[in-house]
Amino acid sequence: MPLSPIRKLVPFAEKAIERGKKIFYLNIGQPDIKTPQVALDAVSNHNLTTIEYSHSAGNESLRIKMAEYYRKRNVNVNKKNILITTGGSEALIFTMGSITDPGDEIIIPEPFYANYYSFSTQSTVTVVPIITMIDDDFALPSIAEFEKHITKKTKAILVCNPGNPTGYVYSKEEIRQLANLAKKYDIFLISDEVYREFIYGENTEHYSILQEEGLEEHAIVIDSVSKRYSMCGARIGCLVSKNKRVMKTAMKYAQARLSPPTFAQIATEAALGVDESYYAEVVAKYKLRRDTLIDGLKLIPNIKVSVPKGAFYCMVELPIDNAEHFAKWMLESFSDNNETVMVAPAEGFYSSYAGLNQIRIAYVLNKKDLKRATEVLKLGLDAYLNR
Ligand SMILES: Cc1ncc(COP(=O)(O)O)c(C=O)c1O
Repeated sequence: MPLSPIRKLVPFAEKAIERGKKIFYLNIGQPDIKTPQVALDAVSNHNLTTIEYSHSAGNESLRIKMAEYYRKRNVNVNKKNILITTGGSEALIFTMGSITDPGDEIIIPEPFYANYYSFSTQSTVTVVPIITMIDDDFALPSIAEFEKHITKKTKAILVCNPGNPTGYVYSKEEIRQLANLAKKYDIFLISDEVYREFIYGENTEHYSILQEEGLEEHAIVIDSVSKRYSMCGARIGCLVSKNKRVMKTAMKYAQARLSPPTFAQIATEAALGVDESYYAEVVAKYKLRRDTLIDGLKLIPNIKVSVPKGAFYCMVELPIDNAEHFAKWMLESFSDNNETVMVAPAEGFYSSYAGLNQIRIAYVLNKKDLKRATEVLKLGLDAYLNR
């Protein structure tokens, strides 16, 4: 199993804190936004007398609420198409386990969310990357590039929309082309839509693979409430598909782990009841953060930045050879006014040796902290280059 590129520098951060440094955490997608009060209240005011196992597919009432959430987004699903999981992470593990045999292949545009590699490794599945470049703002290559990589062992194409770590948002046309490919070769199209609401372009709308007619047997959506409601610690996500065989197989995995967490399901059901205005308010905050980050990064000479259109991550290429060394050095050897930043070296978001000089920044801090964090990053990079 590979180490998590997002968490592997944590011991260095802990040492820096022991030495009294303040760290701005730009490495991990842990938002500082408050969880909706209704979700917290639901847990405080519960009337359970025994914390029982729930249904392996998750509480029925939660699945019904979840289906309502999708229907409001023009995704016509019902409770039978939804399996509640312990985070989107478990939905990914169930999906890979359900649709592949050892040695099978999954095509994934690269750079990708690092754990896709971990989960593929766990299922002994080979990741076949489709390279996208920072110079092109991580735009997808032509559909022919995907087609070239399809073999007898290919079981799926996995996309992240909006993308972590690139912030890339797929157009309806791109989703349609990928859907046609999935149908043509009878493979699955898996779409990780955990950042569905987080889109910043004025004319950009999220298009779910579940909206694509005729793709019912091939579409699997990975979802999560971690970021949507700032409930990362609740550990609730879901797998959504109309393919009965996939759902039946995934259910075997779900039964093997008995059930998703009880209190987190209660919190999630309540969170799903937030007013629709909640999403717009949160997204406006993130847009401001993205703009603050980009403004701050513009002041750093000789770096390359791909302006993200969605999610809350940004890939940055630095004028250095080894971003992991730089990230460690920032924690161990640098501070300005006793403050430093922690970033994620981007190597772990690639299956190849690409990205060695790139970092991923999560813009999950408030405006003031983000401004200061980019300033500290600039000073740190300058000191690193002149050390
Ligand atoms: C793209 C993507 N998918 C899935 C996950 C898993 O999230 P969780 O297990 O908290 O739902 C994350 C978490 O950062 C993510 O960024």
